[in-house]
Amino acid sequence: MKTYKIALLPGDGVGPEVTRAAVEVLHAVADRFQHRFVFDEHLIGGASIDATGEPLTQETLVACREAQAIFLGAVGGPRWDKSPRRPEQGLLELRKAFGLFANIRPVRIYDALIPASPLHADIVAGVDLVVFRELTGGAYFGEKRRGEDFASDQCIYTVIEIERIARAAFQAARAREGKVTSVDKANVLETSRLWREVVTRVHAEEYPDVRLEHALIDSTAMQLIRKPRHYDVILTENMFGDILSDEASVLGGSIGLAPSASLGAEGPGLFEPVHGSAPDIAGRDLCNPIGAILSAALLLRYGLKLLDEASAVEAAVEHVLDRGARTADLGGDIGCQAMAELIADDVLRSVSFSHHVQMHWG
Ligand code: IPM
Ligand code: MG
Repeated sequence: MKTYKIALLPGDGVGPEVTRAAVEVLHAVADRFQHRFVFDEHLIGGASIDATGEPLTQETLVACREAQAIFLGAVGGPRWDKSPRRPEQGLLELRKAFGLFANIRPVRIYDALIPASPLHADIVAGVDLVVFRELTGGAYFGEKRRGEDFASDQCIYTVIEIERIARAAFQAARAREGKVTSVDKANVLETSRLWREVVTRVHAEEYPDVRLEHALIDSTAMQLIRKPRHYDVILTENMFGDILSDEASVLGGSIGLAPSASLGAEGPGLFEPVHGSAPDIAGRDLCNPIGAILSAALLLRYGLKLLDEASAVEAAVEHVLDRGARTADLGGDIGCQAMAELIADDVLRSVSFSHHVQMHWG
């Protein structure tokens, strides 16, 4: 029996609830596939500010470094709006500390949830795309300045930063439909002009077999609603990816369903649902744990290289949705915990599961 160490950072708002849900499903995976998962829980975000004054402590960083994968619930909330340190800084520092430059956010439409999508069935049926968001550059990490009567956030991209996320997206495309849409604002921004140049060169030199198109962020925001099936792999910079991935996530019915993986060249990856801390519904067993549970599936696949285990979790989510279980965000009355139990149960019981296409990494 193999032992894997997983750092848990539940964080704020609904973070602890969805983390418990993901752990419940991971326990089922351990049972069924005969692994041992050791969970090591630590503070991050607002919870860490309350306890220590800092959104990310050395202790949490050390624990993450010793783990094979990091699972995070959510950070942030209005309680810390006036605090000198913001909860979000903890997450950003963590991404930077581990060099997690590739944020992978898959979006697919479950047949059972087509009626829950805000778009017409004929527009969303069959949507299956993934956003490759650059995660450690751009305006998020440039110099920040504040004067009496001005503020600025510097946006910088280096060639190396663009090359490595572009390669990750092209490699993923090879294992999917073979198409990359690179999204920028090259008609206005210098960083976007560099982005387009570098992506074009990496494509020509290393991935000529992949189809590449360039698109502007504003028009992509529109086309994602008009014809989401057009997209396979969307490659974009940090801020545009933040916005587009929230937009893309509701195609499937709710942002509560969307998972993400953040990976670097080496060291542990970070796995977290796309949704935030949702303080309005926190602590009431109302939130949807599926984004967190699918993030646990990505943790199994990319973090621990347990491919059958990841597919079993994804299949379990689909089975449970097919049987009609719905949390409040999808108009149902199943609680977060009950949903997690249904999915864990399915992982334990179902003997056959479909193999999803594996995305290549590295
Ligand atoms: C996300 C979140 C974060 C981001 C916040 C919480 C810092 O919105 O992961 O998309 O902007 O990257
Ligand atoms: Mg976001």
